[in-house]
Amino acid sequence: MRVLPIGAGTVRQAPFPDGPAAEVLVDEQVGGGQLAAAHVTIPPGGAMPDHAHGESTALVVPLSGELLIASGQHQEQVTQGVVVLLDHGERVRLANETNEPVTLLAVFASAGFVRALSSWPATTTTAASTGTSGRGGDGAAWAEVHRQVVEQATHAPSVHNTQPWRFASYAEGLDLYADSARQLPVLDPRGRQLHLSCGAALLHAQVAARARGLTAEPQLLPDPADPAHFARLRLTSGKAPSEREFALADAIALRHTYRDAFSTERLPDALLGGWCLSPRGGPPLS
Ligand SMILES: Cc1cc2nc3c(=O)[nH]c(=O)nc-3n(C[C@H](O)[C@H](O)[C@H](O)COP(=O)(O)O)c2cc1C
Repeated sequence: MRVLPIGAGTVRQAPFPDGPAAEVLVDEQVGGGQLAAAHVTIPPGGAMPDHAHGESTALVVPLSGELLIASGQHQEQVTQGVVVLLDHGERVRLANETNEPVTLLAVFASAGFVRALSSWPATTTTAASTGTSGRGGDGAAWAEVHRQVVEQATHAPSVHNTQPWRFASYAEGLDLYADSARQLPVLDPRGRQLHLSCGAALLHAQVAARARGLTAEPQLLPDPADPAHFARLRLTSGKAPSEREFALADAIALRHTYRDAFSTERLPDALLGGWCLSPRGGPPLS
């Protein structure tokens, strides 16, 4: 038996305004599967926006306050004394429409969803004292999210590893600029490969943002007067990430250019089909 204290670990703040704070209490392999649990605080007026828990089935145990939990057309106000079972794949929204914080225990089997919580920026406040949150009140946490997204974005491939991009953080997200000083004038006189490299970095930033539950729809060439300003990426509260989005973000650290000879073995059609995504990440192209 192990008795696990609540409040002794790292409390992490959702990287979107008025989101919950969470402390991961359990994240381990048990038997043939994985089990995870988190203590979650939703501030007054706050919410965990519509999300699913990937491969996890979840149990929500309200500990204090009045929690509004909505699934499809069905919504209910729940308090201490009940347990809410959320099926694998079920989409829910948790909200606190009262003036008091809501606390709850969320138990997940498997642990996939808890990995999203673990990527939220750490706060120095404890969950219990997190009364209000949001961008205005937690600039340091947002700066940390921006830093993490840029860190992952800059793992992108680039022509001759020139890394011809420059990221700048603004209040609501990130700006991506071309770094023309890194353009290769002989190999790449028109900057085509510089554009491709920056596009790769932008996609990496989107993937990194989505793994943190942020929306990341870029605005391309946001300033007609500045052609080097390639994109503006507004990072705002979004849906919880899917397993696929987690997997893509995990692949950022693993990806690298392969320069050895390729084998002649044909890859299975199913695998190739999965890779042939439409340009906007829609269903596979036939
Ligand atoms: C637009 C573009 C063009 C590239 N052209 C070549 C190439 O001609 N030959 C090559 O071996 N690698 C090429 N690369 C791969 C880069 O050299 C590689 O991404 C860079 O060295 C960083 O290494 P990594 O991809 O392992 O992180 C290219 C990458 C990009 C984005």
